Amino acid sequence: MKPIYVTQPALPPLEEFIPYLQQIWDSRVLTNQGPMHQALEQQLCDHLGVEHISLFANGTLALVTALQALRISGEVITTPYSFVATSHALLWNGISPVFSDIDPQTLNLDPAKLEAAITPHTSAILPVHCYGTPCDMDAIQRIADDYNLRVIYDAAHAFGVRQRGQSVLKAGDLSILSFHATKVFNTFEGGAIVSPDAKTKQRIDHLKNFGFVNETTVVAAGINGKMSEVNAAFGLLQLKHVDAALQRRAEIEALYRERLKDLPGLRLLSPPPADTTRNHSYFPVLVTPEFTVSRDRLYQLLKDQGIHGRRYFYPLISEFQMYRHLPSARADGLPVAHALSRQVLCLPIYPALADADVHRIADLLCQAAELRLQAAA
Ligand SMILES: Cc1ncc(COP(=O)(O)O)c(C=O)c1O
Repeated sequence: MKPIYVTQPALPPLEEFIPYLQQIWDSRVLTNQGPMHQALEQQLCDHLGVEHISLFANGTLALVTALQALRISGEVITTPYSFVATSHALLWNGISPVFSDIDPQTLNLDPAKLEAAITPHTSAILPVHCYGTPCDMDAIQRIADDYNLRVIYDAAHAFGVRQRGQSVLKAGDLSILSFHATKVFNTFEGGAIVSPDAKTKQRIDHLKNFGFVNETTVVAAGINGKMSEVNAAFGLLQLKHVDAALQRRAEIEALYRERLKDLPGLRLLSPPPADTTRNHSYFPVLVTPEFTVSRDRLYQLLKDQGIHGRRYFYPLISEFQMYRHLPSARADGLPVAHALSRQVLCLPIYPALADADVHRIADLLCQAAELRLQAAA
């Protein structure tokens, strides 16, 4: 049987992409904010319900640049429960990450723990909308306002997510997106920064183009973060298919929930409040100590059957060699993140996953749940 991975990139029919390539061949504009790039920025603003977007070659460069644009320095409070790029962007800016624990329901930064992590050197908070679940943005903003901190959201997982009708990408000072192949909306590689105003977008656009403001003036040690015309063209095509892709993801999640809701010891995350528009980018389950087998045993049992789930996010960022010396990286200061990273398993979810495959995966989990009964019999 063909292996099933945690995700599979959504690709439109190849023939639909050829006319876009033809336009690029005709224009010979390959990069540097060409027509495809400009069109995608505009269409993404319309689609996502935001006003200012700067496209990037990937989400990590977007994050590095967002921190530069706001001149963030000193210490930044962030979550250990994320992909390493979140904290790596801080190190690339010479900023010290300070890890704070997560909320056991949302798996996002727990606002109640943030104040204890603030020091005179803290300049910002870098939360992640993990799995596309919105952070408690109001509570985070209240703390940021009280202590005069900036908030930059790593919204790499949050394409299209809204709360109370409003894009979550509008929260805080800046948000970054990733359009990596594994994301719900992909441009092969890609990313973006969402800015609140035209002036901030302009500064970001300079920074992603080596700091050039015109042919002869360079105002900052900018980087080359530009998205190419091919990637932007692909994004324009992907946008036409993204609603159908999100719809199929919702169906798959509903099927998983129906099949797995009563398995003893297997915890499903509660969906966010009903006024949230979700993107179903991941389907994590928590294999608690009450489940018949350990998380790692379940991971292996599935793998042996060709089902490749992923333990996102294990190990925690704070456990990697370049972070574990930090006082805030100690496991006893991050009990929730530590425990849940040892329970989590993300099951395959992507638009081309067939119902029959979801049933097969659910059957394997059900069988695992029955192992103890069989052993006792
Ligand atoms: C939470 C998070 N932040 C940042 C990134 C980095 O994005 P990219 O791979 O586009 O550089 C990713 C994923 O790749 C991510 O999952």
